[in-house]
Amino acid sequence: MERQGATTLSRPSVRSFNSLILAVSCEVCFLSNGAYTLIAFPRTLAFVASLTIVAATTASAQTATTFTVPAWAFPNIAPALVAKPPFDSVAPIRVPRSAKVYTLAQVKNQFGPPDWHPATHPKAPDVVALGRRPTAWACGYCHLLDGQGRSENATLAGLSVEYITQQIADIRSGARHSALAGWGPSQNMTNVVKDITDDEVAIAAKYFASMKARQRYKVVESTKVPRTDEAGGLYAPKTDGTTEPLGARIIEVTTDLRRHEMRDAAETFISYVPPGSVARGQKLATSKTTPATSCTTCHGPALRGVGDVPPLAGRSPLYILRQLVGFRTGARAGDTGAPMQVVVANLGIDDMIAAAAYAGSLKP
Ligand code: HEC
Ligand code: HEC
Repeated sequence: MERQGATTLSRPSVRSFNSLILAVSCEVCFLSNGAYTLIAFPRTLAFVASLTIVAATTASAQTATTFTVPAWAFPNIAPALVAKPPFDSVAPIRVPRSAKVYTLAQVKNQFGPPDWHPATHPKAPDVVALGRRPTAWACGYCHLLDGQGRSENATLAGLSVEYITQQIADIRSGARHSALAGWGPSQNMTNVVKDITDDEVAIAAKYFASMKARQRYKVVESTKVPRTDEAGGLYAPKTDGTTEPLGARIIEVTTDLRRHEMRDAAETFISYVPPGSVARGQKLATSKTTPATSCTTCHGPALRGVGDVPPLAGRSPLYILRQLVGFRTGARAGDTGAPMQVVVANLGIDDMIAAAAYAGSLKP
């Protein structure tokens, strides 16, 4: 799928971001990387700063390379792979280290998803635990009740209230959508928030912001990966143990397909990345020579986020990659994302894989 010229800025555009909180000191006041000039006026650490980006027309901006959306980053919502009792069965379903028992219909209930480990989170508000018919599925159905999320959606635990609110606004307005048109998981998120109220958003945002992300993604560098099936927005290793070359991809698998399908937050993941990705990503993320685009400048030294700039550490590498692709292709075009559009303008897919691998390997 080719998005020709989607990232070419053909005329100068100036955008101001008042209230972008940057944890950078004034060393980053004036920077230039050729195609783009970024002028920041941050005052002191964690002060509300005003950041202005001037994306100027230059020869290199005009010839900006085309970017191909990588289909492997968007695994399909495939039919379930695990044998299960019929949907209306009363057969009890359990998962390890939980006293709870549900039927399959309860596990798949978008208006009251399972809460396997209630001790891991405060009591969830209705919007998170129950949702509201007909379209506002419970946030906890996908992002789980403790906000840890799953590979195909997003970790919400530890994001700021302001950032969560802004993203929902962008998804509702269409400023944010999937870089792969119509990708199931993103489409579902869009449907869920289409008639949500401001109060519901505020309650959900406060709840998820109050929680901490856990480390659930193990980044493994390898030339080979298990052969996999698409398994609901992520991959599951085939049971025959066969492998294939990884190439320039991230293949993210669940380590326990049954847990995944039972929506158990104790599930963990392996993200296979090409050899050398983590070191290359670290270099990119921390580069002192190009602080305008080095990730730590805005996302903090350990990539744990600063103010409303979201954390990246320990989050799904494949999710991070999808977002970088989204900024690169204009699928994430909200105003507050403008700094990111500048950051990714000159990144190739290998750089994105590396940055995602490094960020995902860090402790949240
Ligand atoms: C059907 C599953 C589903 C439900 C239910 C759901 N989401 Fe999402 N959500 C997603 C997916 C998938 C994404 C990633 C979308 C993308 O990047 O294209 C997402 C992304 C988000 C993001 C952006 C996260 C980030 O780091 O930028 C926020 C915030 C969010 N959801 C909040 C909510 C809230 C609040 C609710 C409940 C009102 C909710 N979601 C319900 C699937 C869901
Ligand atoms: C000039 C500041 C700045 C720099 C430098 C920067 N970011 Fe960002 N980043 C932001 C802001 C602001 C957002 C929130 C965007 C929005 O509101 O949509 C963001 C969002 C993101 C997101 C989306 C997170 C989510 O929860 O969906 C990813 C992924 C990301 N950045 C990765 C990176 C990487 C990787 C780098 C380095 C290559 C980087 N950023 C450098 C400011 C920056």
